[in-house]
Amino acid sequence: MTTVDLVVLGGGSGGYAAALRASELGMTVVMVERDKVGGTCLHRGCIPTKALLHAGEVADSARESAAFGVNATFEGIDVAKVHAYKDKVVEKLYKGLSGLIKSRKIEVVNGTGRLASPTTVEVDGRTLTATKAVVLATGSYAKSLPGLELDGKQVITSDEALSLDRVPKSAVILGAGAIGCEFASAWRSFGAEEITIVEALPHLVPLEEESSSKLLERAFRKRGIAYELGARFAGVKTTDAGVTVSLESGKTIEAELLLVAVGRGPVSSGLGYEEAGVTLDRGYVTVDEYCRTSVPGIYAVGDLIPTLQLAHVGFAEGILVAEHVAGLSPQPVDYDGVPRVTYSEPEVASVGITSATAKARGLDVTTVTYDLAGNGKSQILGTSGAVTLVAVKDGPVVGVHMVGSRVGELIAEAQLITNWEAYADDVAHLIHPHPTMSEAVGEAHLALAGKPLHSHS
Ligand code: NAI
Repeated sequence: MTTVDLVVLGGGSGGYAAALRASELGMTVVMVERDKVGGTCLHRGCIPTKALLHAGEVADSARESAAFGVNATFEGIDVAKVHAYKDKVVEKLYKGLSGLIKSRKIEVVNGTGRLASPTTVEVDGRTLTATKAVVLATGSYAKSLPGLELDGKQVITSDEALSLDRVPKSAVILGAGAIGCEFASAWRSFGAEEITIVEALPHLVPLEEESSSKLLERAFRKRGIAYELGARFAGVKTTDAGVTVSLESGKTIEAELLLVAVGRGPVSSGLGYEEAGVTLDRGYVTVDEYCRTSVPGIYAVGDLIPTLQLAHVGFAEGILVAEHVAGLSPQPVDYDGVPRVTYSEPEVASVGITSATAKARGLDVTTVTYDLAGNGKSQILGTSGAVTLVAVKDGPVVGVHMVGSRVGELIAEAQLITNWEAYADDVAHLIHPHPTMSEAVGEAHLALAGKPLHSHS
């Protein structure tokens, strides 16, 4: 029997952020983790996928080097070495995180925990009692569709795709969200010959501003990545040679494998949540703006709750919970203000709301698009894309939407603009360094303020 202030169930982004902040605030903390601290983000998500995408970027640079007057030959991908590089990055971050957790005197209990009562978690016969709060942070798993069986070999999810021992010659990717588009991009960069993305909604990255989706579609078309939009999956047959995917339209697509990327579901069953009185909705733990569940003293954070399934959202929710438990007055997370990035080539980044959402909310908005064709650094890098602003008429900027290589690095400035409710003039007079891609953000605001510089609008 161990008694502490805070018991955290799950050591991923949401759980460990809560644990670290709580310990900083003087609380005693135990965190239960069945696998490795760092969770999906560090071991099966953000970090390893971005390492693959970076290796893909290096491959593209080698392949395209002649265009820059550099003589190099691209001889292929050594998959084992790509994995070694990716695993080294993960391992280094894992060691760093483990050390950090230890240095904050947080005990990590290895094992599968179960909520035994509103104040206790049981792990392998040991009872952990929380005097202040229990934080549920058990994360998510890669979902499939009803009737679509994953075999881990030819019909796989991102879990297997991350450690595939070869570059697939061809693949069908079901779902054009971040996971689908990122694997399409990485595999194509690695030399996959035929990639087809199947998406039920009318666009790639369908939740983004429509103009961003269209720019990504154009870029993928140029890169030889095919897609079927507004297409519903009907079934898959596997043979020794590969898979045959059929769509409801009657069309069939043959490929080496099918990657299922239709979203992630909450890990909440069999963990004692409902028995303890915690309300679930389609498996997600429902919470209020302070991440409090229906049971006093039990909080939930991260992919387990129905908010954006992003590591940085998990961090923010974990910190919010720790501060709330400590009796501080933290501000609830403003989910519109969360930056979102799909790290394909080109990248898609956004913050704030789309023009469609603005209209649905009855806002009278205007949009301005600055084409990267006018941006010097983009021309140097050979990337195309745009920055689109959504602003309330005579009011603040409420959305920034970008497409282009490396635009994920520009979204941090954009999030200050939308979260601080800046007006076009507030940003237009700020000077951006030349030549950088960040100038595109400045130029878009110059255009919105009615004084475009390197653009025709
Ligand atoms: P997602 O929910 O973003 O996208 C899944 C897509 O599959 C949707 O566009 C949906 O319309 C489509 N779909 C669903 N059923 C279908 C069907 N029967 N036929 C055809 N299309 C169908 O999920 P995804 O990409 O699997 O990612 C899971 C979570 O992880 C998301 O919340 C995502 O934001 C997050 N994530 C974030 C990353 C990032 O920030 N860069 C990277 C990877 C994942």
